[in-house]
Amino acid sequence: MSQVFTNVTELPPDPLFGLKARYNQDTRKDKVDLGIGAYRDNNGKPWILPAVRQAEQKLINSPDYNHEYLSISGFEPFYTGAAKVLLGDASPAIKDQRVVSQQSLSGTGALHLAGLFLKKFYSGGPHTIYLSQPTWANHKQVFDTLGLTVRSYPYWNKETKSLDLDGFLRTIQSAEPGSIFLLHACAHNPTGLDPNYEQWNQILAALEAKKHLIIFDSAYQGFASGDLEKDAYPIRKAINDSAIKSTPIIICQSFAKNVGMYGERVGAIHVVLPTKDDQFGRAVKSQLNLIIRCEISNPPAYGSKIVATILNDTALYSQWRKDLTTMSSRIIKMRDTLRTKLEKLGTPGTWNHITEQTGMFSFTGLSPEQVERLEKKHGVYLVSSGRASVAGLNDGNVDKVANAIDEVVRNVQPKL
Ligand code: LMR
Repeated sequence: MSQVFTNVTELPPDPLFGLKARYNQDTRKDKVDLGIGAYRDNNGKPWILPAVRQAEQKLINSPDYNHEYLSISGFEPFYTGAAKVLLGDASPAIKDQRVVSQQSLSGTGALHLAGLFLKKFYSGGPHTIYLSQPTWANHKQVFDTLGLTVRSYPYWNKETKSLDLDGFLRTIQSAEPGSIFLLHACAHNPTGLDPNYEQWNQILAALEAKKHLIIFDSAYQGFASGDLEKDAYPIRKAINDSAIKSTPIIICQSFAKNVGMYGERVGAIHVVLPTKDDQFGRAVKSQLNLIIRCEISNPPAYGSKIVATILNDTALYSQWRKDLTTMSSRIIKMRDTLRTKLEKLGTPGTWNHITEQTGMFSFTGLSPEQVERLEKKHGVYLVSSGRASVAGLNDGNVDKVANAIDEVVRNVQPKL
């Protein structure tokens, strides 16, 4: 084998799924999983949203229920409903039919489609994509693999544990015109730190001035504030309020977290054109269709039908909105509890960032060495960057986690 395949080197396990595998093998009864971002209820169990349970029943009982192929674009009631979730029912872009949508294999599939489409067709600037520093571990490898040049923009100021807005704006200004910028629409992964509205306005204006192309990664809509509208602020500002006038905008959307459809791989890519051009829109759609046809033939049906059932039924939609509040408020409560406990213990350092951050994750500020000790000594699992999935905390384990963090902070000095 080694003679016919060269350079097939064994790679280390994926940082997130490798962590999950180690957690699963750990036999300690009181282990705690704060690794992969997946919502857990207050008993530490996966939660099937009530809206999903009801939609599944409705779907299965429908006389039209079947397992036929979808079209290459996917399930139309799904991807048209999905665009409305992002842009709002009254979006001028939707009304003018400027939104080209294609169902994808969740957010990662949408990012891959975006990267491949840009690689094949983008001529508005260099094939250089700027990612936030830090960002979700998978971003870099998705775009690297496709042959885009990956660079980063400053985002997290380690000292102040806040947004490095100046650094971010400086990079936007110094990047070659027409570069590609990937923005986390809300609930930034891994930092849990989002720009406020005023900061978003500045960021979008700077991007427009340099004619950079924006890809929004929207994986957590409804998870930051509990409110779909508020969490869509930068997307709607850019598109509906025409903050971006000159270039198309790409949105990569996942329903893994906000509908809890993790394993069903439900997502979409939307290419929003700045001006109406039906013929060009059809051409974009046909090219996205070709990529899908070659790679997966046509998208998976079951999860998208469940989500479509929720999006197109008034009662189920309002149940979903309640479910989003249930999830986001439990996470907010756990942030409060963890911070309060650490402050009561007098754990060295400051812990206000835990409640100031938003969405599923907290960037705790713990060092890789401290994280390693948390795992080995205490059975508390989080990503080596110090990112903790707050959704893994509950009333039964938060004391243990606070005590464990207190112990490692006192006993392991971060390397300078
Ligand atoms: C995470 O960041 O934990 C999730 O988005 C899961 C994943 O696929 O990496």
